[in-house]
Amino acid sequence: MERTLIILKPDSLQRGLVGKIITRFEEKGLQIVGLKQVLITEELAAQHYAPHKGKPFYDRLVRFMTSSPVIVLALQGNGVIEIARKMMGATFGFKADPGTIRGDFAVSSSFNLIHGSDSPESAQVELALWFKPEELHSYDLANRVWTYDFSNGTPM
Ligand code: RTP
Ligand code: MG
Repeated sequence: MERTLIILKPDSLQRGLVGKIITRFEEKGLQIVGLKQVLITEELAAQHYAPHKGKPFYDRLVRFMTSSPVIVLALQGNGVIEIARKMMGATFGFKADPGTIRGDFAVSSSFNLIHGSDSPESAQVELALWFKPEELHSYDLANRVWTYDFSNGTPM
């Protein structure tokens, strides 16, 4: 099954939204396979946001992400990368649709609560950047046979 990297940014913690956001992913049926709190170093922020280096918002973004601790999550599920991006909503809080995390809880362009990997390639790179192999867990959830249809042998 697919995995993705989620970061609950400093504003999620400062605004007391961590529980609500994680609950949404759990209730959707996505499995938590890694979770920790990190105060990001400038070096890690630079590695994570390397694709944005040179853009006008880059310095501000690195300052924001290193300003206060974040929660990092690895989520697992069929199609989890696309599902999580849909649940997050559009990048800017003021543009994100109601019903999405950013649409319901954010109004800012840069303080937008959450990061999610945007492709299988970036998920692979980001999971390796943020988690040691032993921090990622493979285990069966008791309710998986009611979360997915296993009648064909594979989860559908
Ligand atoms: P993320 O990478 O954090 O999941 O967000 P995203 O894919 O929706 O947005 P992206 O284009 O990758 O931008 C990364 C983060 O930079 C900040 N940003 N500020 N014009 C701006 O002020 C601006 N544009 C982007 C946001 O925090 C965005 O999430
Ligand atoms: Mg992005």
